[in-house]
Amino acid sequence: MKTQEGINRKQFLSKLGLGTGAIMATYCLGGLISCNDDDDYISGEVDFTLDLDESAYDALNTVGGYVRINKVVIAAVSEGTFVAVTQICSHQGAENVTFRPLNNDFYCTQHGAIFDLEGKGLNSNGSKGILVYKTSLSGTLLRIYS
Ligand code: FES
Repeated sequence: MKTQEGINRKQFLSKLGLGTGAIMATYCLGGLISCNDDDDYISGEVDFTLDLDESAYDALNTVGGYVRINKVVIAAVSEGTFVAVTQICSHQGAENVTFRPLNNDFYCTQHGAIFDLEGKGLNSNGSKGILVYKTSLSGTLLRIYS
């Protein structure tokens, strides 16, 4: 469910002092802007951009590296190719989904659900699959969106 609180994203980010050099987030920030419960994350209401030149995202410059941010797991699965999935597990909602570079899959540490790079469940706890977001890379800017 979405709510508006009388401040748009640009105004909010401006108040935080975030410029385009930092995370260029147009993301659901808790209940402040648009997403106010986990259903929104599961349903795919995300849209943010990371600058891979920022040290916080160095892991994404190496194949097999990953970051977890904004309840999204973003993995560099091959040179210039990224896969992003929700961090919220479809099994029982734990925010424990992570990437396993050795297996090249996503894994929930709560009860062991496993998902492939297309979001398909690979075992019984992962049978509902996992939401996969779109990604696009433009220069050093990686956008994650639904
Ligand atoms: S909540 Fe992820 S496997 Fe159960």
